[in-house]
Amino acid sequence: MRTAIAGACAAAIGLTGCNGFSKLDLSKLGRATWQRPTDVVESLDLAPGDRVADLGAGKGYFIPYLTRAVPDGRVYAVEIDPERIEDLEERFGDDEGVQVVSGQPDDPGLPDASVDVVLIVNTYHHIEDREAYFRGLRRDLRPGGRVAIVDGDPELGGILELFLPKGHTMSREQVKEEMESAGYRYAESHEFLPLQVFEVYAAP
Ligand SMILES: C[S@@+](CC[C@H](N)C(=O)[O-])C[C@H]1O[C@@H](n2cnc3c(N)ncnc32)[C@H](O)[C@@H]1O
Repeated sequence: MRTAIAGACAAAIGLTGCNGFSKLDLSKLGRATWQRPTDVVESLDLAPGDRVADLGAGKGYFIPYLTRAVPDGRVYAVEIDPERIEDLEERFGDDEGVQVVSGQPDDPGLPDASVDVVLIVNTYHHIEDREAYFRGLRRDLRPGGRVAIVDGDPELGGILELFLPKGHTMSREQVKEEMESAGYRYAESHEFLPLQVFEVYAAP
């Protein structure tokens, strides 16, 4: 089913048809068409004043969507890569709703009991010893805090590599096993992303 959706997505941008891959032009495809950032952030049910962390913020793709969703709140842009941290500081340093956080591989570096929602896009699979990492992250969540994981859907196979680098995947089953071992309970799955799983877990 998801392969069919991804295929439709590919067809929509001209990957298929008589000339096959000669028609491929990914430059015509903005990330928003498959990443659907507005819908992702809307699904998080954020409220004004909430504090949200973008864990593995990268170049900050999600930050503007998140800051719009939490007026009077705070967005923590967590990164471990020094170059990315510098770029994030440059881009968002003057925005008082955004705090760039320098994380460590085993610790996001967030203040204790500070976050309502942690969003992790295309980054969960990068984290080592995830059970220990997410067990520790529970300390940083406010009561009722949630962790939303968006990662490449391995069920799609090679077609995913047209959009994301090879190996950037994580199955729902593996996320469930690891997050439950880390002490979270399954909250919900969203099915609207054509290329990625989108799983939400809640702290006890
Ligand atoms: C594939 S990029 C995704 C960036 C962004 N979330 C997006 O979707 O555009 C993964 C990012 O996660 C960062 N990263 C990897 N491990 C991390 C960790 N343990 N803590 C914070 N950031 C991490 C990397 O430096 C990289 O910038």
